[in-house]
Amino acid sequence: MGQVAAVTGATGFLGGHLCERLLAEGWTVRGLCRPSSDRRLERPASRSSDLAEVAWYVGDCFDAATLSSLVDGADVVFHLAGVGLWSADPETVHRVNREGTENVLEACRDGDVGRVVFTSTAGTRRTNGSSEFADEDDIAEPIGAYQASKAAAERLLDDYAATGGDAVTVHPTSIVGPGDDSFTTQLLAMGLEPTMPATLPGGASIVGVSDVVDGLLAAAADGERGEHYILGGENLTYDQAASRIADYAGGTAAPVRVPATAIRAAGPVAEGVRAVTGRQVFPFDRRMAALATQRLFYSSQKANAELGYEYEPLESHLPETLAWYRDAET
Ligand SMILES: NC(=O)c1ccc[n+]([C@@H]2O[C@H](COP(=O)([O-])OP(=O)(O)OC[C@H]3O[C@@H](n4cnc5c(N)ncnc54)[C@H](OP(=O)(O)O)[C@@H]3O)[C@@H](O)[C@H]2O)c1
Repeated sequence: MGQVAAVTGATGFLGGHLCERLLAEGWTVRGLCRPSSDRRLERPASRSSDLAEVAWYVGDCFDAATLSSLVDGADVVFHLAGVGLWSADPETVHRVNREGTENVLEACRDGDVGRVVFTSTAGTRRTNGSSEFADEDDIAEPIGAYQASKAAAERLLDDYAATGGDAVTVHPTSIVGPGDDSFTTQLLAMGLEPTMPATLPGGASIVGVSDVVDGLLAAAADGERGEHYILGGENLTYDQAASRIADYAGGTAAPVRVPATAIRAAGPVAEGVRAVTGRQVFPFDRRMAALATQRLFYSSQKANAELGYEYEPLESHLPETLAWYRDAET
């Protein structure tokens, strides 16, 4: 019989792709969804299997009974549920990301559970300047509620692993792929939209969602208990990414680069715009604005050496992602 996976965040961007892959590989998949969640996950351009086969457990990260039945008997619990400052206030971010994780671990402790794979963020790591690329050891002072909540959740995972539980933490970098209307949409717009006036001055490690799914499965199978693995992609300045997207799509990248000083100054303004119009504007406060001007580059060497993790170049993720982007526009 195949293995049983319990997935929190199954209705999200990464979670949807993970569930598709698990089903395609013969796992029995249980997914947590809130009563309000959109379970359709309609991404015609990317769908490879039918998410209708997910057994849905309706509740949230604060519903102990649902969490217990979700995780009990699972070989692997993939805990992906989380919120960012895009969609929630700092208090909710803390509650969902930290307390939600505590509740999931509590259910795992009480149940019959194999391994927990927790999805944190590469944002809890930052290079101290000695190298261009941050790795797992570069634990950084969190900037903003999102990073702080994820760092706090990581400590809960480490404690779980140190006290008899089996847990591994992965740290994806900036994920692109079909179904993501935050980072992916912003990145594609920089390369594709004639109305997009500018690119950002910084850079990021840009990883395709299918590579992150590979990494999640590899961490479940081969990760060492209590360890952390960065799951990154190509390290690119936003200029480089935008022109490679434009080249691929036969367009022209946004011509002007916003000066770093303007981005820092615009941080609070962007927050106001978002509050009023509901439009996601990047970045949204002074310290996070500064991050958008930096090169947030990461090394995935540890995951490569220990998990066999590999990532593809940006272009190999563009066909599916562009098909979804264009589909979503119409
Ligand atoms: N996308 C990236 O670039 C990136 C990079 C690094 C790390 N990550 C991490 O990867 C994970 C998945 O990210 P994503 O991009 O897939 O995010 P997403 O599309 O926003 O999905 C978030 C998921 O969490 C669920 N959720 C939110 N609040 C919840 C609650 N109170 N109880 C239960 N479930 C709740 C959402 O359910 P609903 O459908 O009901 O809203 C959704 O399924 C997150 O933990 C994120 O921090 C993402």
